Amino acid sequence: MSPSPSSLSPRRVAIVGATGAVGREMVNVLHQRGFPVAELALFASERSAGRVLETPFGEKTLVAFDADVVKGYDIVLLAVSGEFAKQHAPTLASAGAIVIDNSSAFRYDPEIPLIVPEINADALGSSKLIANPNCTTAILVLALGPLHRAFGLKRVIVSTYQATSGAGAEGMAELEEQTRNQLAGRPVTNSVFRHPIPFNVIPQIDAFQENGYTKEEMKVTWESRKILGIPDLLASCTAVRIPTYRAHSESVTVETIRPVTAEAARAVLAEAAGVKLTDDPANGVYPMPLNATGEYDVEVGRIRANPVFGDNGLDFFVCGDQLLKGAALNAVQIAELTL
Ligand SMILES: NC(=O)c1ccc[n+]([C@@H]2O[C@H](COP(=O)([O-])OP(=O)(O)OC[C@H]3O[C@@H](n4cnc5c(N)ncnc54)[C@H](OP(=O)(O)O)[C@@H]3O)[C@@H](O)[C@H]2O)c1
Repeated sequence: MSPSPSSLSPRRVAIVGATGAVGREMVNVLHQRGFPVAELALFASERSAGRVLETPFGEKTLVAFDADVVKGYDIVLLAVSGEFAKQHAPTLASAGAIVIDNSSAFRYDPEIPLIVPEINADALGSSKLIANPNCTTAILVLALGPLHRAFGLKRVIVSTYQATSGAGAEGMAELEEQTRNQLAGRPVTNSVFRHPIPFNVIPQIDAFQENGYTKEEMKVTWESRKILGIPDLLASCTAVRIPTYRAHSESVTVETIRPVTAEAARAVLAEAAGVKLTDDPANGVYPMPLNATGEYDVEVGRIRANPVFGDNGLDFFVCGDQLLKGAALNAVQIAELTL
């Protein structure tokens, strides 16, 4: 039996971006999972320096990021922008810290492992810099990985329903404030999202690429291939922002190499690590963001044969807390692998 995290030698942990949507969850997850923390330091921008946060580890004063200080920590969890990560992560890692980066800066670098522990922990290697996947992808591969092992994946088509917190703390604030404005008959403006988000769905997340897909959509293809170890996987995603706070939902269609049935898929997913089979539609039981919020496991349900692909087709619905499995939880799980 492997030792529990709390029986291992404690590490000095730094969270950079500790005031953000992801950073705040990282503090909670480290505590909930009993990560062996010798010292926890919380870093953010100059704007937040000196603010005191109540945390499960006690009161913590936020410190302005300083690379020379942060590089002395054993584990650095980065929850900042890609530009910031590009500028600082390699330096921190070459100084000896294990750096787990939540941005997309290093995910497509063949030398940098991109890890979802339930799926490809063996790809970790000895790299000091490790990439955490895009939130939609992390949630998706928890279902795709076991299905691939059992039936072989040929093609994947995904449509997403992504919560406002996927755009950070400011995304949630915009939903809340603009919904109030809308209901009070005041003008509704938008700055985080391209269009007003209350009572709307926006089929654009991130910038459009030359091929007509958005970058968010292409991340799902690129990252699923790398994590699942299927470089030629055919995958297409449509990513849509919806006016919920938290937890991303995904409607998924797969074509498999070997025949699959809904019953066989259900049996595989019932045993899959990190998955909660949530599939009793007759009783109104299926994955939903309100139920998945705050949960570590990703809900999978509405599993049914897809008639377009005959004996090799499956449809299902997935819902996972993207701030947890799509970010903070996955990052802490990676940190646990390094203990
Ligand atoms: N939200 C999600 O669902 C999600 C999921 C997976 C991955 N990610 C990725 O995780 C990262 C963080 O996302 P988020 O949603 O948590 O963003 P967020 O809520 O906007 O938080 C950003 C954090 O970065 C800090 N920051 C900004 N500039 C800084 C600087 N110069 N020095 C130090 N800290 C600085 C901010 O501190 P101040 O408060 O002081 O400005 C804040 O703590 C991004 O790369 C994002 O793409 C997000």
